[in-house]
Amino acid sequence: MKPIVLLTPAIALLQLSAAKETIHERSWDEAYGMAQSLVANMTINDKVAIVSGVGFGLGHCIGNTRKTSGIFPQLCLQDGPVGVRDAKSTSVFPAGITTAATWDRDLIQTRGADLGYEFRHKGVHVALGPSIDILRAPQAGRNWEGFGEDPYLNGEATTATVRGIQSQGVIATAKHFTGYNQETNRNTYSTEVDDRTLHEVYLWPYARAIEAGLGAVMCSYNNINGTHACQDEHTLNTTLKGEMGFRGWVMSDWFATHSTADGVNAGQDMDMPGRSGHFGSSLKRAVKKGKVTPERLTDMVERIVATYYKLGQEKDYPAVSLGDADVDVQENHKKDIRAIGAAATVLLSNKDDILPIVPGKIKQVAVIGEDAGGAIFGPNACILHSCNSGTLAVGGGSGSATFPYLVTPADAIQARAKNASIDVKVADSNIFSASKAEGADIAFVFVNAFAQESFDRSSLDLDKNGNKLIENVAKKNNNTVVVIHSGGPVNMPWIDNPSIKAVLWAGYPGQETGNSIADVLFGDVNPSGRLPFTIAKHETDYCAKVTSDSKIPYTEKLNVGYRWFEALNIKPLFPFGYGLSYTDFKYSHLEVTSKNKQVQASVRVENTGEVDGAEIVQVYLSFPDAAHEPPKVLRGFEKVTIKAGKSTSVQFKLGKTELSIWEPKARDWKIVSGMYKLHIGASSADIRLSVEFEL
Ligand code: BGC
Repeated sequence: MKPIVLLTPAIALLQLSAAKETIHERSWDEAYGMAQSLVANMTINDKVAIVSGVGFGLGHCIGNTRKTSGIFPQLCLQDGPVGVRDAKSTSVFPAGITTAATWDRDLIQTRGADLGYEFRHKGVHVALGPSIDILRAPQAGRNWEGFGEDPYLNGEATTATVRGIQSQGVIATAKHFTGYNQETNRNTYSTEVDDRTLHEVYLWPYARAIEAGLGAVMCSYNNINGTHACQDEHTLNTTLKGEMGFRGWVMSDWFATHSTADGVNAGQDMDMPGRSGHFGSSLKRAVKKGKVTPERLTDMVERIVATYYKLGQEKDYPAVSLGDADVDVQENHKKDIRAIGAAATVLLSNKDDILPIVPGKIKQVAVIGEDAGGAIFGPNACILHSCNSGTLAVGGGSGSATFPYLVTPADAIQARAKNASIDVKVADSNIFSASKAEGADIAFVFVNAFAQESFDRSSLDLDKNGNKLIENVAKKNNNTVVVIHSGGPVNMPWIDNPSIKAVLWAGYPGQETGNSIADVLFGDVNPSGRLPFTIAKHETDYCAKVTSDSKIPYTEKLNVGYRWFEALNIKPLFPFGYGLSYTDFKYSHLEVTSKNKQVQASVRVENTGEVDGAEIVQVYLSFPDAAHEPPKVLRGFEKVTIKAGKSTSVQFKLGKTELSIWEPKARDWKIVSGMYKLHIGASSADIRLSVEFEL
């Protein structure tokens, strides 16, 4: 029996900022018509200027196109996925991995629109995000920037993000194309990957983003099957622009251009930030010498200009004002940031229903751990957050952004506890000091694992001896609750300790981190976050690990993440898609019909508990043996909010996209005939109902 708690219904608290006006996005055909007329009047110098970068490190944007004769403006390109990098009066949003954990397309799109608004009003034409690299090796330094281990979830999150950003007239950049899944030796290693795996795992989110009108793609640092990603004909020309029909442009990652004609003829359209020596006058020479055709140069320029027109940037585009604090673009985005952070928090365990905190029953709590408080030198203690100090709300590197302020968990818990007449003991900065835990009704211990660009993690252990701190606290208090800030899976050697009653994964939630967590701890928001990755029992259980080898064969092929665990029968600690609620949901009445290669499913979901809550209903598909797919793959999900005691019917549609596999020989997507099984689950390992159907 759940405790009777006076909860504000989860829906009430997800108060969002006012919906934004959206621009009218032109069709590609119309935009290309306009671009062709303009480009027809350009000189070769104008054309070369538009595809070449300039001004890196000179206080402008992180990427700038060169000046033309006046026929086309210089474009400003700026990082990154969590906010406008190096800017003043801007917000820091939840990281990609946190956002994905909401499994909520509306919230993800709202974040995209907020980001788009901030980029636009700071004068940025091209936002360098989202990052959509698949979480393959859990130690990889940039996993926090992306949307996790599953291509379908990634595809949905990418689509919603691109729609949101571009709804504000800002060009979104999906990165990094492709096979870029670790930092170690990132400029030299070669990802050895077969074509089917590429299509079904790594390119899947790009395909979805292209359907949503994606404007730009960034090619990556690594090699793909022995060729630099930015000059790989197979992935760029043949696949991205050919088969996938991408009509926007491909820019290099910063300093990832290794050639002039080789890259350009393979499909690279822009060099960033412009210091490679391979574009600019070298490109002009290459055209003059016939190494690059004039038609190809025109195509490169048209792609950029068409995207600019598609998003209506020719009209009233604000001037660049990154460092100008008076241009404050934050609006009321903090509401959305807080709501997303709360909706993303994953409740991993909750023994004896210790959470939510019940005022009256709980009189005193302790808050322990450096991760609960502020950094000594403020929330922006180090450049690009390349250090771990105080509570960890964002990762480090180019994907980071500057906090306008940071609500720490200690501050937020104290503020909330005051209203509920709960006494809070906050431990001092000595991270090993567990003494404050003694005597409290609940001891909260905050721990973290830092991740950043350019470095992979050497292990999945918590930083700053977090495991030891947790054990010390658990020795002093048998109602210990652990909160983890990390950008992906961590080791949890203490998980079976009976004094540890609850564990929450909060990801990197951005500037409102403390409030988001307090909303969940105090039950104002009923947790509905679900893991966008698998957490293994042992670090050696995952499908891949970071390596310093020069060739990295993706031998697990389609079996990334949970698929690997299922294919090899390895029991994870917490499976992909997993997360608890303060209520319970019951599934019934699964009906599946299949007609003309379209599958429809409906299922009833009932909230059988005492409080309102939201469930993430997940659809997994098992293919016929002849398809040689993993045991099952995610092919749908819906977030539904259901009042206590009520039920609702949830519908799913699976079409050619969800039902097909990639046939490398035919170079096409194909539906394999045979018996399929559609599963409805509350996680990848918690399948509640299954029905077979034939295609
Ligand atoms: C990163 C990109 C980023 C670029 C510009 C590179 O190091 O890989 O993701 O957009 O820098 O800052």
